[in-house]
Amino acid sequence: MRKLFIAGNWKMNLLRSSSQALLAQLRSSLSDVANVDIAVCPPAVYLRDAAEALTGSNIGLGAQNVFSQAEGAYTGEISCGMLLDVGCRYVILGHSERRAIFGESDAMVNEKLHATLRSGLTPIVCIGETLEERESNRTLEVVSSQIRGSLAGLSNEQMEKTVLAYEPVWAIGTGKTATPGQAEEVHASIRSLLATMFSDAVSQKVIIQYGGSVKPDAVADLLMQPNIDGGLVGGASLKADLFSTIVQLASKIHK
Ligand code: 13P
Repeated sequence: MRKLFIAGNWKMNLLRSSSQALLAQLRSSLSDVANVDIAVCPPAVYLRDAAEALTGSNIGLGAQNVFSQAEGAYTGEISCGMLLDVGCRYVILGHSERRAIFGESDAMVNEKLHATLRSGLTPIVCIGETLEERESNRTLEVVSSQIRGSLAGLSNEQMEKTVLAYEPVWAIGTGKTATPGQAEEVHASIRSLLATMFSDAVSQKVIIQYGGSVKPDAVADLLMQPNIDGGLVGGASLKADLFSTIVQLASKIHK
């Protein structure tokens, strides 16, 4: 059985005081939840403070990006070792905003993924099609190609430790959530592809989150789908009540 995993991607939002207030609220409202894995991914400059605020809680800490090299002349970049050093457990890789705005290719995501797995951090690798790609019936082709490129060279053991997040670009920040049927179709085909690339047993262990306008009203129907194992939440993760409700709803789902 796969444990549901809900993560909040704060993107470039909040300042130090508001992030501390949000963490304090989440810590108290989610302290009873044991059957869902929970994480928050604040901006890098606040990770150290966040780690302190979350010490001893059931909320894990993640970063939104990392560089593939261990150290050196890479101005502005942050290594896996640094993320571990400040208390991170997770890192988001290849988010569609990084792919579209900062030019990250599958090859770059793949280098970051190998570095992340070597370090012991848990990667959350994002894939997803644009509206134009969906409307031209290329969703499965695009997602498969991102998966093959981003996950190249992983061992079965490494694949089992990798979380995937299917985030259709047209659903991100638009208020337009994919229907449970649309999302499940892609999640199921991702799992079949993993079975052919790795093994059936591996594919059954991989956590595949859905992301894109996840809100309390839509989350239960999404999480009830057999191949949807959690959510990567953007906007709603900035509001303590919304994010807590999403996690509480996830904790009530048995499948
Ligand atoms: P929204 O939930 O704001 O649509 O963002 C989704 C996302 O990109 C999470 O990584």
